[in-house]
Amino acid sequence: MDAERDGPAAGDAESKLAEVAAEVRVCPKCELCRTRTHAVPGEGPADARIMLIGEGPGWHEDQQGRPFVGNAGKFLNELLGRAGVSREQVFITNVVKCRPPGNRDPMPDEIAACSEYLERQIAAIDPDVIVTLGRFSMARWFPGERISKIHGQPKRDGRRLVVPMYHPAAALHQGSLRGAIEEDFSKLPKILGEVDRLRESEAAREVPLSEQMKMF
Ligand code: URA
Ligand code: SF4
Repeated sequence: MDAERDGPAAGDAESKLAEVAAEVRVCPKCELCRTRTHAVPGEGPADARIMLIGEGPGWHEDQQGRPFVGNAGKFLNELLGRAGVSREQVFITNVVKCRPPGNRDPMPDEIAACSEYLERQIAAIDPDVIVTLGRFSMARWFPGERISKIHGQPKRDGRRLVVPMYHPAAALHQGSLRGAIEEDFSKLPKILGEVDRLRESEAAREVPLSEQMKMF
């Protein structure tokens, strides 16, 4: 699978991501800055076709300054591998870049304070597919929806598709969700192909996307 793109803007995107990361590492914009060990800006290639957005760093992530390096991260690597996607091909980040103490939920004011960084990362990478992991990243694209109802179903956002998925940490600890998240991840190659197809057919003629999306 061709999961990366080249383009004249690649270097530009990389420097924008580096800029965001540098700001995040010293960010004082919410209370979480007081209790963090390391901020976790996110990592992955600037030309990634897939961007994964989790909730917030846990203990291991806070220690290392890297996203999804604990148990949930190991499971995430496995899920990606089974979908034929390597971790090195995707960009991984979180809604809040600093660990909420005791792994509590991030609060609305913290999410709001941090959202500027996430938006700049999305704009720089301009991914074809965004995978939301858990309810906090899901809420940006699917407000008021229930994950149990919409998981694995891509929705169009401009020129990309956004796919809500269960959080790997939740799926890891609930046997019934494990099969669901595995199945949803296994759709990723097909979803990437669908973005390509949508763009081609859109360029060629105006096919209503609502029609095209019925296959999911
Ligand atoms: N859970 C998350 O949401 N993000 C991480 O980086 C690790 C665990
Ligand atoms: Fe800044 Fe986000 Fe960390 Fe809050 S969570 S201190 S807004 S980087």
